[in-house]
Amino acid sequence: MGKRFENKIVVVTGAAGGLGLTSAKAFAREGAELVLLDVNAAGLADAKAVVDDYGQCTTHAIDLSSGAQIEQLGALLSQQHERIDVLFNNAGIAYGEINQMIDSVDLDRLQMYFTINSFAPLMLAKALRAPLAEAKGVVINQSSMAANMPSTIYGATKALLNQFTYAMASIFGADGIRVNAIAPGLMETPASSAALPEETVQRLRGMQMLKTLKGEAEDIANLAVFLASDDARFITSEVICCDAGCTLRGWRN
Ligand SMILES: NC(=O)c1ccc[n+]([C@@H]2O[C@H](COP(=O)([O-])OP(=O)(O)OC[C@H]3O[C@@H](n4cnc5c(N)ncnc54)[C@H](O)[C@@H]3O)[C@@H](O)[C@H]2O)c1
Repeated sequence: MGKRFENKIVVVTGAAGGLGLTSAKAFAREGAELVLLDVNAAGLADAKAVVDDYGQCTTHAIDLSSGAQIEQLGALLSQQHERIDVLFNNAGIAYGEINQMIDSVDLDRLQMYFTINSFAPLMLAKALRAPLAEAKGVVINQSSMAANMPSTIYGATKALLNQFTYAMASIFGADGIRVNAIAPGLMETPASSAALPEETVQRLRGMQMLKTLKGEAEDIANLAVFLASDDARFITSEVICCDAGCTLRGWRN
């Protein structure tokens, strides 16, 4: 089978490690030219070295909490690339505070959380709309199963991201752009392993229908590649869980 993303440009945010880097590698293996974005410049350089082994790749350090930086980079990328085929809005903040309730943080922290997890994906997609439209491209937002538990601040940010996914699909659909979200369950990444206590890991795994399975970054990368491919050409405005049956388990039983 031929490579599905030859001559296609794929932009991945939060690409310095974890789910973003693994997804970038998966797209590169399919022939894509990658544009990797992250606030972590050193991590981005390491990621480039990894992705370069699979295909062509450029990087830009950007703080996605800055609207000005998003606009600036959006303009630059739109100038450099007439077409952008895929935007994977994967960057997000979570760990250490994943179980923190919405009443236990101050306004600055709340604003930062929503700015990075909910607003930045929308603003970056808006900034790249012209080249995405030219390609009849695809936007994928990295949500979370936590969106179904919105009493936590993290869950609330991802619930809003789901709403923005539906809204973006509706508005950008006029340009032929598809917009979907992925809602991962617990996936093994350096960030999740470092931050979640073993007790939380066991509790989350206990909520899965497939109890013995450990979610891996490749599970998300495979889904992102599918959603971005022509095999998913009739799918838009969906939030797709990839969580071994963890989310809404109670309702489906
Ligand atoms: N790992 C999981 O179990 C899991 C589950 C559900 C959802 N998610 C989501 O998947 C995404 C990736 O998670 P991960 O486990 O790979 O974590 P990670 O921390 O390795 O990845 C997040 C990346 O986003 C970058 N980032 C953070 N703030 C930024 C900013 N202001 N500007 C630019 N980049 C910024 C980080 O530097 C990091 O490289 C996140 O959105 C997370 O919420 C992860």
